[in-house]
Amino acid sequence: MIAKLDTAMWFLQRPTHWRHAADIARRKWLPDHDGPGEARKAQAWAAERAVPLIEVLAAIGLATPKTTLPQLPPALLEEAQGRSTRSLVKMGGAGDINLLYAATILSGARRIVETGVAYGWSSLAILAAVDGQEAARLVSVDMPYPKMKNEAFVGIVVPERLRGSWEIIREPDRPGIKKAIARVGEVIDLCHYDSDKSWWGRQYGYPLLWDALRSGGIFISDDIQDNMAFADFVAERYLNFSVTECGGKYIGIVRK
Ligand SMILES: C[S@@+](CC[C@H](N)C(=O)[O-])C[C@H]1O[C@@H](n2cnc3c(N)ncnc32)[C@H](O)[C@@H]1O
Repeated sequence: MIAKLDTAMWFLQRPTHWRHAADIARRKWLPDHDGPGEARKAQAWAAERAVPLIEVLAAIGLATPKTTLPQLPPALLEEAQGRSTRSLVKMGGAGDINLLYAATILSGARRIVETGVAYGWSSLAILAAVDGQEAARLVSVDMPYPKMKNEAFVGIVVPERLRGSWEIIREPDRPGIKKAIARVGEVIDLCHYDSDKSWWGRQYGYPLLWDALRSGGIFISDDIQDNMAFADFVAERYLNFSVTECGGKYIGIVRK
């Protein structure tokens, strides 16, 4: 009871989080798409379609099977690993940084939106990929977990020297995604979805990001094995998609 009151207070003190809180309450009345059965179905769906990263990049026209993929500098990763140990709070796991780094470099993306920062591994991969590109901009949306007191550690692995092209909107996806899209000028070259992994969360975020993506832009979603949201999304829109696996998780990729 006290924990519930604490959470309510946490949200009450943050007006930018009220719409998210209202949506979470609304979802309790909506059909549940996140049960274990749905996760099993999504896991099987993704596993059946997963191919190696080089094949994904070839399928979306960013590489050939013979392309040597750009690799994140080992020294940068080592430095980031060191910084991550300074976080006093455990946060969400990393996206597929090799995919993000390669896709950002090979596509020449400059207007980039991501949802979900936590330690900032995906942000690090994207920012390293656009390092030195003057017009490049990454806008990230991240709502720190209620009551976790992790605000100070969000993005901790990203070094100061890469932060010039970076902005974090510290709000929930609703309304953060719309604000992020506006901040990059309403058109996106590449997006990475890694925040609210529920089916209803993705129902909200995917179409907003997809609609803002330019033709030829790259859509990447992490953890598509959680539920059937990605499978439903590509089926409803008749999209050509690819799936790859990283550390036991599956990532969905679509070129618009
Ligand atoms: C899996 S972590 C992100 C990992 C990150 N992309 C990386 O590669 O290091 C998910 C993050 O999304 C945030 N998040 C969860 N639900 C959210 C929501 N509804 N709106 C915005 N951020 C949310 C969490 O607080 C957490 O920081």
